[in-house]
Amino acid sequence: MNKPELYSKYSASQRLDNLYVLDNHLDLSRWRAEDVVLDVGSGDGRFSVEILMARLPGNFGKFIGCDCSEVMVEFAKKNHRKAKVEFVHFDIAAKVLPEDFEGRFHHIFSFYTLHWVKKQRKAFENMYKLLKPGGDMLLTFLASNSIFDIYLNMSKIKKWKPYSKKDYIAPYHGLKHPEKQLEKLMQKIGFVCSLCKVENRIFVFHNFDSLRKSVMAINPVIPNLPPEDIPAYMDDFVKEVKNSKQVTIENTNNNGEESIKVEYKIFIVSVIKPVNEKGFSV
Ligand SMILES: C[S@@+](CC[C@H](N)C(=O)[O-])C[C@H]1O[C@@H](n2cnc3c(N)ncnc32)[C@H](O)[C@@H]1O
Repeated sequence: MNKPELYSKYSASQRLDNLYVLDNHLDLSRWRAEDVVLDVGSGDGRFSVEILMARLPGNFGKFIGCDCSEVMVEFAKKNHRKAKVEFVHFDIAAKVLPEDFEGRFHHIFSFYTLHWVKKQRKAFENMYKLLKPGGDMLLTFLASNSIFDIYLNMSKIKKWKPYSKKDYIAPYHGLKHPEKQLEKLMQKIGFVCSLCKVENRIFVFHNFDSLRKSVMAINPVIPNLPPEDIPAYMDDFVKEVKNSKQVTIENTNNNGEESIKVEYKIFIVSVIKPVNEKGFSV
């Protein structure tokens, strides 16, 4: 993802879910003075600083946002500079982690990011290494989304096929019980799960313009397209949405616009890295 300006303006659905998860589950993490926090996939930095950090106890020690997109990191540094906050560039599924990061964090958060990560096991193993024993993580990310089926349909259209990759689809999309698979993986790595569930969510775009802008902000195919082809790609995308049986389009009476109801599922995960190998935490 490399469109921080668009993402900051058109990420209402992500922000609503993130708030929902924080409001209901932030109390699962235990806080001491000077705790060090990592936010994996901090993106444009807006959610990290304006919402997540604002809800943490004020006596935390340091807040580090990381992202695999240099453009995102640069935007976050420029627009969300604050005391005790740092933004760094690294891939959470990388083979090698930044020096001095292992065992440094008391808390790891990750919002709306991990569905982009193909190497799930490597990412969670890295997060395990980054945490201090007794440290905790609160994560939310997509388990499935009808929009992924639109990506799949778009990849079958001859003109867009060369730009589309199957790995744009979330790793758990279409699975019947993704939470069981994820919980098993977490346990294998050594985490103790206090929560690993999937919740059904709905977001309503109030018109096609707002759907288009949100898609422009996050669709991973768009950066691969020649710029002059983007309008035609978006027109085909909208056609696919209109033809989809999984998306509901309704005529709303305000301004005669059509609203688009998208159904999807999110993971909500809270885990602890135990203090000793037998799985006991402090
Ligand atoms: C949808 S944005 C979420 C931003 C923010 N957390 C929020 O909830 O608004 C997802 C971010 O995850 C980043 N990302 C994707 N894969 C990543 C990886 N393997 N390591 C670190 N960041 C990653 C993307 O570059 C993007 O900025």
